[in-house]
Amino acid sequence: MQSFKTVDSISKWLQNNKIEGKSIGFVPTMGALHAGHVSLVERAKAECDAVVVSIFVNPTQFNSTEDLDKYPRSLENDIRMLFSTNCDAVFVPEVTMMYPDFPNHTHTIDVDLTLINTVMEGMFRPGHFEGVINVVHRFFDIVKPDKAYFGEKDYQQLAVIRKMVSDLRLDVEIVACPTLREKTGLAMSSRNQRLSSKGMDDALIIYNTLLEAKKLATKMTPAQVKSFCASAFEKSNLSLEYFEICDSNTLQILENEWVPGARCFIAAYCEEVRLIDNMELIKLN
Ligand code: PAJ
Repeated sequence: MQSFKTVDSISKWLQNNKIEGKSIGFVPTMGALHAGHVSLVERAKAECDAVVVSIFVNPTQFNSTEDLDKYPRSLENDIRMLFSTNCDAVFVPEVTMMYPDFPNHTHTIDVDLTLINTVMEGMFRPGHFEGVINVVHRFFDIVKPDKAYFGEKDYQQLAVIRKMVSDLRLDVEIVACPTLREKTGLAMSSRNQRLSSKGMDDALIIYNTLLEAKKLATKMTPAQVKSFCASAFEKSNLSLEYFEICDSNTLQILENEWVPGARCFIAAYCEEVRLIDNMELIKLN
């Protein structure tokens, strides 16, 4: 595995691979890697000739400097993990490599996020998705991948990336990968590192509530499921930010009717760590 810090050096490496006719798979990450990230790299490795992973804690997608500062960083361990996946290249740019005039001119990509910003992550983290598409667009521009891999763990992010690709007619295939969970059911996340073992137990209410919502989906309306499930958090050690049931295509909130692909989304704070998860409730035809 080769490691690159500059756009010039990775561009040369990519060009050589492209001359050899190799297809390029790309997995963008913010590091603090876990088995969920590794599953994306392995999927990319199975489908592409050469795989590039980026590790970059993107400052423009954080709403607070405290959240950015507390984001876990473990580069040495990340590189070790990537070695074991047979990943071909890791790209670890500095902030100024991605944004030369940082903090000014972190240029905005012209994708209309008005609708997506009315719900869930878009609503509770103003500017977050603008930061995500900025950085992913910049990475796509540098790596020019044939396929890029994203986790369903961040389902709304996946929808935003798909919208960017479609609106800007980018020539890249977006591959959605299932959420990897701990044996307990807790969705793997870099942020879990900040939880105590009690916190890890307390956080299970998120997965258990998603399972409960799935059971109830056949018996109640989406609004009734929401009211029933959200109340479970009142007796817990977590503070619920949102519980929503949405159409998986439009991501608009469902209230009275179920649709194929209806999906449940939860964001909650556990020991001041913000956790998100989601689950399909009704199968997409
Ligand atoms: P990060 O949180 O590091 O996640 C990188 C990728 O791993 C994302 O596509 C995410 O959905 C996926 N992922 C995270 N946890 C997962 C799990 N338990 N199972 C499967 N996949 C999982 O998402 C970001 O970084 C950033 O927003 C980024 C896209 C890199 C832009 O900065």
